[in-house]
Order: sequence, then structure tokens, then C-alpha cells
Amino acid sequence: MRVLGIETSCDDTGVAIFDSDHGLLAHGLHSQTELHQQYGGVVPELASRDHIRKIAPLVEHILQQAGLEAEQLDGVAYTAGPGLIGALLVGATFAASYGFALNIPTLAIHHLEAHLLAPMLENPAPSFPFVACLVSGGHTSLLRVDGLGQYELLGETLDDAIGEAFDKTARLMGFSYPGGPKLAQLAERGDSSRFHFPRPMLDRPNMDFSFSGLKTFALNTWQSSDQNEQTKADIARAFQDAVVDVLVGKCQRALETTGLTQLVVAGGVSANTAIRAALAKKAAELGARVFYPRHEFCVDNGAMVAFAGCQRILRGEKSGLSVLVRPRWSLTELAN
Ligand code: KG4
Ligand code: ZN
Repeated sequence: MRVLGIETSCDDTGVAIFDSDHGLLAHGLHSQTELHQQYGGVVPELASRDHIRKIAPLVEHILQQAGLEAEQLDGVAYTAGPGLIGALLVGATFAASYGFALNIPTLAIHHLEAHLLAPMLENPAPSFPFVACLVSGGHTSLLRVDGLGQYELLGETLDDAIGEAFDKTARLMGFSYPGGPKLAQLAERGDSSRFHFPRPMLDRPNMDFSFSGLKTFALNTWQSSDQNEQTKADIARAFQDAVVDVLVGKCQRALETTGLTQLVVAGGVSANTAIRAALAKKAAELGARVFYPRHEFCVDNGAMVAFAGCQRILRGEKSGLSVLVRPRWSLTELAN
């Protein structure tokens, strides 16, 4: 079965084709980062308009790359939420119309389900059950995953998402959106002994997170400092060290509480090398294994949607002609 996957939940237009027999056939992404950079964050209306411009040519391009005609597709999967309503509607409307024209099933996919299944596109791939740690610009959560659609929430952020905290901290030191990767790069040159940031909620016996205090701590540290380039790097380092400690501590708790030995880490922030190194070390200590998507599938992409869609369409699921979008949608509400 060949499934076309469409991702338009935020500022990336992602398209891919996954084949249940031959794996990923083609994938492509149009990123809107430049478009939004001057505004300091994603402007929803601009995002929707750009998705409209890019989606049809990108689908054509991906079909060509795969050497397929549209008529050779067996299903269309699209991100239905959570995300920006206008952006989601573009992908959903396109997918529903495309599926109708080709007389093939279309299916609404949960964006976070797609993220947490993304490491299954890799070799070696994790197998159910596993602990999933989702770390992106909009979400931070720990889940127990027993199978497709079987998700138990272990903990989540009570305020800012981890990527949001990276971006906001970068912004207060003058870096444009999304500042997360720039802050991470800067941290490599920082002196870890100069500032010490708190480790929010690490001492609490749960798996919840809180990151908004770190951004305030960074702001106060920045404002009372000499504000030079080295100070930026030292703050970036102190911030990242704190985030890494908290994330590692909570992932350890999730593995110990569930007794599971596989940890899947996905979402944009899983590209962070300091986080990867620290989790690898902790996992080795615990006798566990960590799985990540390849770099380009850490961030939003069409491949993860095509993959999740294919697994569900194979089970006979379809959303029909309705254009389904859910800007707010809890992962634990998903049916098996
Ligand atoms: O998953 P994603 O592409 O979009 C959402 O669904 O949110 O994640 C984007 C987020 C941004 O906040 C970005 O700053 C962050 O991931 N990010 C990073 C790194 N690469 C991307 N944060 C820290 N270190 C990185 N290397
Ligand atoms: Zn995402």
C-alpha cells in the first residue's frame, strides 16, 4: 500500500510517500522559516497562504521523485491537529479533495502520533512497548506507548514547551526565530561554571515539566550581566545544562516507573546534540536503548504522516469526505 502524507500544521509544508512493502519512496519539505523570521515567530495567516502556494507543486514533485502517477496511490493521510487552524485546513482540504478525485481513502492523523512513530522509519527501529519523549516547539510530554493508538500520558509541561523555552531565551539575547538551534550552538562555547540555573521540578516525584521559569532566570541573568558575546554563550550553556538535567532526570523516572527499556525521543528539540549525548549516557547506565528519527525527520515533515497514515489505513481506517481539523487535540483521546 502506498500512502501520500501531508503535513501543514505549522510553518513547514511536508509531503512524502510511504510504501508498506518498500518503505519511504520520496519526501520533501518547504520550510517557511525565512518568511516568519522578521516577525519573531510564526504568523498564522502568512503560514496558511504559503501552504496554499506550495502544496500542489510539492505533491507533483514528490510523485515525480517516486516515479509514480497519482493513480498509483492507495491513500492520503494528513495532519489534522494539533496546530494552527488555517494551516491545518489547507492540508486537510487538499488531502480530502485529492482522495475524493482519486477515489481512495483519506485519513486524519494526530501530529504528535506522527512524531512519536517517526523513529520507526529508521533501522534499527524501536518496537512496542516503549517510552516516548516528545520535545518540540509546541509540546513536551512523556508517554507510555503500548501500540498504535495506545498512549498513556506519564507527564507533560505545565507551561512553556521545551523548544519554546529555547526560542524565548535565544530571543532575549537578540537571536531571530527559531533561536533554539542557535542557542544550542552557542552553548558549546559557553563556560558551564559561570552561571547556575535552577532545575525546575526535578525534585518532584512526577514526570511533569516546567520551563517558563528558566526563561525568566535567563532574562534576569542577562540584564544584570555585562551583555557581551561570551556572556551570551555562558548563559546559553547554563540554560542548556539545566534543560538537559531535567530532561534526563524525567526520562530516567519514566523508564524506571514503566520498567521499559526503549526510549523514543522525537520532535524538533531531539536534534539537540547535548540532549542526545546525555540521554545516551543515562540509557547505557540503565541498560536501555534510545531511538531518534534521522535529523530531517526530527522537525515537522511529511514522512512521519505518511508512515502513521499507512499503518492506520492498512487497518481499514478512513476519515471519509469530511475535512477534519482539530487545532487542540489530546493524544490520549486517540482511538486505537
Ligand atoms: O517539532 P518542531 O519542528 O515543530 C513543532 O512542532 O514545534 O520543533 C521546532 C522546535 C523549535 O522550537 C526549535 O527552536 C527547536 O525545535 N529546535 C532546537 C534544536 N533544533 C530545533 N532546540 C534546541 N536545540 C536544537 N538543536
Ligand atoms: Zn511538530
